[in-house]
Amino acid sequence: MTGESDRYVVRPGQASDAIMLARLHASVQLQAVSGGQPHPGIAAWVEDLLDGHPSVAPDDFLVAEDTATGHPVASLVGLRQDWRLAGVRLPVAQIELVGTAPEHRGNRLTERLFAALHERHAAERVPLQVIEGIPYFYRRLGYDYALANDGAPTVSAGALPTDGGGDGLTVRPATVADADDLAGIDRRLADGNALVCPRDAAVWRYEIAGRRPADLARRVVAVLVHGDDVRGYLVHGARLSAAGELLVVAAACTRPADWPQAATAMHKYLGHVGKRYEASAGRPFTAVRPILDPEHPLVRLGPPGVPRRPRGWYVRTADPVDLLARLQPLLRARWDAADLRWHEPAMTIDMYGRAARLEFAGGELAAVTPVRGAVSPSTEPETHAAIPPGALLQLALGHRTLPEVLDIWPDCLLRDRVTEHFLTTAFPQVPVRVWPRN
Ligand SMILES: CC(C)(COP(=O)(O)OP(=O)(O)OC[C@H]1O[C@@H](n2cnc3c(N)ncnc32)[C@H](O)[C@@H]1OP(=O)(O)O)[C@@H](O)C(=O)NCCC(=O)NCCS
Repeated sequence: MTGESDRYVVRPGQASDAIMLARLHASVQLQAVSGGQPHPGIAAWVEDLLDGHPSVAPDDFLVAEDTATGHPVASLVGLRQDWRLAGVRLPVAQIELVGTAPEHRGNRLTERLFAALHERHAAERVPLQVIEGIPYFYRRLGYDYALANDGAPTVSAGALPTDGGGDGLTVRPATVADADDLAGIDRRLADGNALVCPRDAAVWRYEIAGRRPADLARRVVAVLVHGDDVRGYLVHGARLSAAGELLVVAAACTRPADWPQAATAMHKYLGHVGKRYEASAGRPFTAVRPILDPEHPLVRLGPPGVPRRPRGWYVRTADPVDLLARLQPLLRARWDAADLRWHEPAMTIDMYGRAARLEFAGGELAAVTPVRGAVSPSTEPETHAAIPPGALLQLALGHRTLPEVLDIWPDCLLRDRVTEHFLTTAFPQVPVRVWPRN
C-alpha cells in the first residue's frame, strides 16, 4: 500500500498506533469545540476503537506515515457493520476520524487514504461506504448525499412531561444483563420496513459498559420495561451539549401499541436525565434533541418542538449492479405484495456504463446479473430503464422515490408506463432508523 511519493507510506493501522493516532486525532478533530486544545473525547474514542472494540480491528484504520519520522500524519477508519434494509443485509463501512496533521495538509493524503480504502472494500465486497462530514468535500471523492439523518424537532426542556406514561411502562438505566433482550429487539426491528443497524448482545454490552468514560461516542442506554419484561430501549447522550441539549440517538419499542405511553414515559425520563446532567455540565438543561427522523414514533407521539432541517449522510457505492443484486429478495417481495408480474423474460436497467439484467420466471424475479451497458441506453430497444448510478443509489436506499428521481434527473429514462409502475413499486421511501456502530 505504498504511495507514489517517497515521503509517505499508506498502510493498515496497528494496535501499536493507538497513542500516536489518539494524539493526532485529538489535535485535529473538533478543534472549534475544544478551542484549539486536544480533544479528550476524541482521544478516548480512538483508544477505544484500537483496544477491545467488539467490531473494529486495528487494520480497519488506514494510516499515512511520514517516512522521515515513521509517525502517522494522516488517517481514517472504516467501521464495518451490517445494516438491514427491510430485512436485507447490507454490509456498510462508516468512515470516521478523517484527519491530517496541519503541516502535512494539501499533499493529497486524504485522497490517497480514501483510494486505499475503496480498493480494500472493492476486494472485500463491502458495497457501501457512508460518511457524515464537511459539506461538499466528500463529493470530490465519489460520495453523494443519499441518506437523510435527523430532522426531528428539538423539544424544549419546559415542554417535557412530568407525569404520565402509565400502563405500567417505565424507563430505567440498562445493565449488561439486558443485552440479550436488547439484541432480541434489534433482531425483530431488522425485519421491519426501515433501514436499521442492529446490535448483537456483545455490542450492546459494549455500549452499556465497555467504553472509556470520556469516549466521545459513548452513549447511555435505558430500557423501557413493563415489570420484568423489556419492551424497548432509549439511547441518549452521556452529557449535555454546549447548548445544554440532551441528544437522543435511538429509541425502539417492540409493541407498536405501546408507543403513545412509551413516548410519554421516555420523554419524562429524558427530563430527569437532563436535570441530573445540569450539575456536571455547569449549564442549564435546555432541550431534548432527537437525532431521529420526524416520522419516528417517539417524535410523532412526543411533545411538539422546533422543526429542524434533516442532515444528509454521504454514501458511495462502487457497484450499483451489485447493490441491486443484494436487494433481489426485497424487490421480489415488493412486487409480490403489489401483485405485479413482469411480462417479459428480463428487464434491463442500464446505469450508463454498466447494466443489470433482471431475469424473471413466471413473472417473478429470479436473478439479477451484471451485463455490459449499451453505448446509447436512451435509444437501445433492449433497455427498459436508463438510470444514472447516483440516482440508482438513492432509489435503492429508499432515499428518493422514482417520481422524485424523474423530476431531478433528466437522464433517468424509462421505456414505458409499465416499467415506471414496476420501478415505482420496487423503490418506496424507506425510513432511516440507523444508530451507526462506532
Ligand atoms: C479535511 C482534511 C482531512 C483534508 O486533509 P488533506 O490531507 O489536506 O486533504 P487532501 O490533500 O487530500 O485534499 C486537499 C483538498 O481538500 C480541500 N480541503 C481541505 N480541508 C477542507 C475543508 N475543511 N473544507 C473543504 N475543503 C477542504 C483543500 O482545499 C484541498 O483542495 P484543492 O485540491 O482544491 O487544493 C484536513 O484538512 C483535516 O484534517 N481537517 C481537520 C479535521 C477534519 O475536518 N476532518 C474531516 C471530518 S469529516
